[in-house]
Amino acid sequence: MALASPALSAEGLPTLGTQPNASVYKVRGAVIEIAALRGDIVRVRIGRNGNRPPPDESWAALGTSRESRAPIERFTRGQIAGFTTSVIKVTVDQESGAIVISDRKTGRVLMADRRQAFRADPDGAGFSMGKSLPDDAHYFGLGDKFGPLDLLGRSFAMWNTDSYGFQEGHDPLYKDIPFFVGYTRQGYYGFFLDNTWRTTFDFGHEKPGQVTIAADNGPIDYYVMAGPTPKDVERQYAWLTGTPAMPPRWTLGFQQSRWGYPTEASVRDIVAHLKRDRIPTDAMWLDVDYQQNYRPFTVDPKTFPRFHDMVQTFSREGVHTIAITDLHIADHPNAGYAPYDTGIAQDRFVKKADGTNYIAPVWPGPALFPDFTQKATRDWWGALYRQFYLTDGIAGFWNDMDEPAVFDTPTKTMPLDNIHRIDEPGFASRKALHAEIHNIYGMQNHRATYEGLLALKPNERPYVMTRASYAGGQRYGTTWTGDNSSNWNHLRLTVPMLESLGLGGFAFAGADIGGFAGSPSADLLTRWIEIGMFQPLARDHSDEDSQPQEPWVGGKAQEDIRRRFIEERYRLLPYNYTLAEEAARTGIPMIRPLFMEFPEGLLNGIPLDLAAWGQFMWGPSLMVAPPPTPESPAPYSVTLPAGGWYDYWTGKPVSGVKPLKLWGASGMFLTLKDEGAASPHALPVTPRLDQLPVFVRAGSIIPRQALVQSTDETPKGPLEIDVYPGANCHGSVYADDGHSFDYRNGAYSRTDLTCMQHSDGSIDVSIGKPEGSYTPWWHSYHIVVHGVTRRLSQSVIERGHTLAVVYDADQQSVALEFPTSADAIKVALQ
Ligand code: NOJ
Repeated sequence: MALASPALSAEGLPTLGTQPNASVYKVRGAVIEIAALRGDIVRVRIGRNGNRPPPDESWAALGTSRESRAPIERFTRGQIAGFTTSVIKVTVDQESGAIVISDRKTGRVLMADRRQAFRADPDGAGFSMGKSLPDDAHYFGLGDKFGPLDLLGRSFAMWNTDSYGFQEGHDPLYKDIPFFVGYTRQGYYGFFLDNTWRTTFDFGHEKPGQVTIAADNGPIDYYVMAGPTPKDVERQYAWLTGTPAMPPRWTLGFQQSRWGYPTEASVRDIVAHLKRDRIPTDAMWLDVDYQQNYRPFTVDPKTFPRFHDMVQTFSREGVHTIAITDLHIADHPNAGYAPYDTGIAQDRFVKKADGTNYIAPVWPGPALFPDFTQKATRDWWGALYRQFYLTDGIAGFWNDMDEPAVFDTPTKTMPLDNIHRIDEPGFASRKALHAEIHNIYGMQNHRATYEGLLALKPNERPYVMTRASYAGGQRYGTTWTGDNSSNWNHLRLTVPMLESLGLGGFAFAGADIGGFAGSPSADLLTRWIEIGMFQPLARDHSDEDSQPQEPWVGGKAQEDIRRRFIEERYRLLPYNYTLAEEAARTGIPMIRPLFMEFPEGLLNGIPLDLAAWGQFMWGPSLMVAPPPTPESPAPYSVTLPAGGWYDYWTGKPVSGVKPLKLWGASGMFLTLKDEGAASPHALPVTPRLDQLPVFVRAGSIIPRQALVQSTDETPKGPLEIDVYPGANCHGSVYADDGHSFDYRNGAYSRTDLTCMQHSDGSIDVSIGKPEGSYTPWWHSYHIVVHGVTRRLSQSVIERGHTLAVVYDADQQSVALEFPTSADAIKVALQ
């Protein structure tokens, strides 16, 4: 039973103690508190020099999750003390303090200290932790890291940095997401260090056999999540730090942007050109060009004289306007500049060490920096959006430069001894150095905007994109990968980067399509658009001194290919929106590394593209397989995990594949084995610029719709349901009004879809009873079953009547159409 207070030994001898919330162990001056938040998540907090850990405060982990407790059973065996939950076993060596966290049932070790719980830096402020790195380990995550997906053998700093023109290996970049997914042959787990100071993660680079995690200062406060599958880890992390904000549906459409559309006329021209060329589009972004002297929350009346009318006109055409609103407020006194005047009057800005306002150059010249660590400042900031959001009708906002970026200084940011005044629910009010706040500054800017928009329109989903963030920032909207470059390597690395961001909670993220710095060749832009259409946020954006890179640049032949892929994204909207909702509900990202869908693949040593240069999963069903070296015409080979695949474009089962030999584990050794059909297969592909290989996993059901020019348009005709028979055949389609929070009160529609192929070749397709009170736009279903080699001539709907079906021998498909129903429908195709 728990005792009322921790039993800490006065002599500092190793002693096991308990308190209601956690088990407490005092070892050599370290006070180790370990709490089970759930059976599958434990939190470790360590106080130093005999002190209890600092107050329980966090910008990332939700208060409700931190307060949650699961039952534990304590034990002591000699010098080893610890506890078990329903899932996890924790041991603490009371001599050394070393902590081992393992899976209680299987004994699988999740995290194990190598020698002790931590080492204090000589200056006493910082610390490092050495965790053992098993031979079969791999690591994924940490946010916007620019290199192979697998972090093994590399070292990373976590320090939000304006990184214009970054290239492979450049680190750190814009975000600090100190969370990774760990893998060993026995399963997956998650690790999150909740420390906002500058931290480093080293995965066996400096010390082989050791993961070293260190911070300059701040609390030793970390969470271990038991998995065991990658999706379990994602759900556990989302439970702890929050699920991603549900995006408005229109944000899944194609978006056009550029720094350097200098006038309203030029912006109107671009939208007109998109319309004229019938490039489906949902958003037009306004970069800093529209502002007066780069002052946030202003519009230049000379260059954008009919700004309000422009936004309204676009909106009538199904194009949503998104405007940049950087955080730096111009130092522009006595000029009627409200953000400055009200900010000064209310004392909203970050201070220098001497207590005066910190002023430094950014786009508008000398500028002040809101202290977003105060709720009152965030409320003040949020109210600045009133005119743009409520009156002009701007639909979304872009918070850039919020690392924060500062010009003309080698550090690219503000002095570390600047002062923030934390005044915040859940925190003790206190002054904090910028060194502590730096990594959450952008996240709190993002939050201020998100919550401000919510206050202005409480039942509209805000859409806000930030450049800098911290763990948990996914709650406030989206992000992008910053100032990438127009080269092939950047296109290649976009895939692992978006996968890593997705693992770190940012399910809805994108990279500048075509590349930001520099100008893409026509072929590069085409390939980038093709691949970008299967990624969460699809925005073409470029630097002001680059050549134009809108979809028509490079000629008609290129534009035709690009349009085809943009159109495909619109046809896939029902599937894509279903993925976005799943991410917002569960934390499982939209773009997924192969191991997320085939976790056993990695476990069996199947070569699942750990570097992820090429193949990735778009949701559970589609595998996109661009050339691993996208500029090269050389043939390449796609690994098809076992289970059967269809070609997305033709609908036909993939043939011409040969089984891959597997590396199987036998004892400590990997051995080659050939499992025939159960093996993954290799498919040879010869790249062509106008084609992007996309495969459908057998056993998938994919909802699609007729082409529209904007997601605001109601598609004509039925909901198209493409059925790809195979094991465990299922799918789902989600719909709601696309913009409000009414879905939280039941105003949504979710329909589960299943299919079953019998040994005589007949097929049953079942459409579940739609869940929720929302009535979607479709009134009928057009079902196409692929891979049907036997002529099927009729279908019997459950309630008895018979429908003709169309069998296409060439396509090996059978199609039929029937009206929707409030009840479940089962169709037997015979
Ligand atoms: C830096 C951003 O990363 C980029 O996307 C933007 O165009 C420029 N700032 C100008 O606002």
